[in-house]
Amino acid sequence: MASLTESLQNITMSGGGAYSLATRGAEDVINAATPIVLEALDSINIPENQDLFTFSDMGTADGGTSLKMVGNLIHAIQEKNPGISFNIVYSDQPKNDFNGLVQTVLGLGHFPSYLETTENVYPLFSANSFYKQIIPDNTLDFGFSATAMHWLSGKPCELSNHVHMVGADGEEYLRFSEHGKKDWETILLHRAHELRKGGQLVLLNFCRDEKGKYLGNTTGVNMFSNFVKIWQDFLGQGRSSEDEYKRMTLPQYYNTVEEFSAPLKNFDSPVYQAGLRLKHIETRITPCPFAEAFKDHQDAQRFAEEYIPTIRSWNESIFFGALDQNRALEDKEKILKDYYHSYQDQVLVSPETHRMDYVHAFTVIEKI
Ligand SMILES: C[S@@+](CC[C@H](N)C(=O)[O-])C[C@H]1O[C@@H](n2cnc3c(N)ncnc32)[C@H](O)[C@@H]1O
Repeated sequence: MASLTESLQNITMSGGGAYSLATRGAEDVINAATPIVLEALDSINIPENQDLFTFSDMGTADGGTSLKMVGNLIHAIQEKNPGISFNIVYSDQPKNDFNGLVQTVLGLGHFPSYLETTENVYPLFSANSFYKQIIPDNTLDFGFSATAMHWLSGKPCELSNHVHMVGADGEEYLRFSEHGKKDWETILLHRAHELRKGGQLVLLNFCRDEKGKYLGNTTGVNMFSNFVKIWQDFLGQGRSSEDEYKRMTLPQYYNTVEEFSAPLKNFDSPVYQAGLRLKHIETRITPCPFAEAFKDHQDAQRFAEEYIPTIRSWNESIFFGALDQNRALEDKEKILKDYYHSYQDQVLVSPETHRMDYVHAFTVIEKI
């Protein structure tokens, strides 16, 4: 059986720039947050003689979804400080497709890059996790992350009856929430070291909102319950084993607004004592772009074919890693193909009930 640490290594988004192509919704989230990014930027006092501005995008995947936002940020700064140079530090965990990331940022992939319209911009690439320090002490002006910090540093336990903590209860739920709390604190403490005084963090994280809504659970079918249901069907048909079913547990935690805020408001917290302060937090629902488009085109086949890849782009690697190591590669691939096919068939039957709306907490944090 894979160890818990090894199972984390299976977090990989689709490679070769396919991630950004399949996850238009994630780009919508970042674009929706751009005014908040620019407002936070405005509050930084950048002296006229400052030579270098350091920006970091943590958990960037292939970098495609943040290209426009990063371009806007650079242009906004250069308008006021034309001579300034930029380090744009892209980071993700080691198994990320870094070749795809480099191609995207250099404009050699599927999208135009801001490098074509800017000068003195130096992209840097780091395979350091956000559970570690990525940038030297007191050198970061602006830290950003979108839709990434729900991935935990490890899996606290396997869930007996669900694939995600949103469906966990009892002792298993407590173990996830304890782990989530420690991880959030670790993430913030490292950022507290990296940031200069006055530096800002804008973090767009999946959450459970005030009404209990979360990714894929806003209205209609609950996406996570559906993942469980299909794996249960596979188990019932003898297509997967009990052990495999349990290992499908995703190492993720969705904080509530209170959980995100606590270490930034509590005087005794090491995060608060390290100088981080919560400036703003709000929850936002970003509509599933594929379900919205379906309202217009009404083509169920098209919707199903667009919708399933967006789900697949972020959870396939975990499900793949949960299948028994002794299975032949073709066997694993066939199981996953059939799994997503079952989901796709359901979408075809009742397309209007499926949608993966994004539910985020937009958080602005300052180092004082
Ligand atoms: C859903 S993608 C988000 C990509 C991009 N930020 C966006 O908003 O479209 C999540 C990314 O987080 C990365 N990730 C997960 N755990 C990480 C860690 N501990 N450190 C850095 N990146 C991590 C994954 O590898 C993946 O690329």
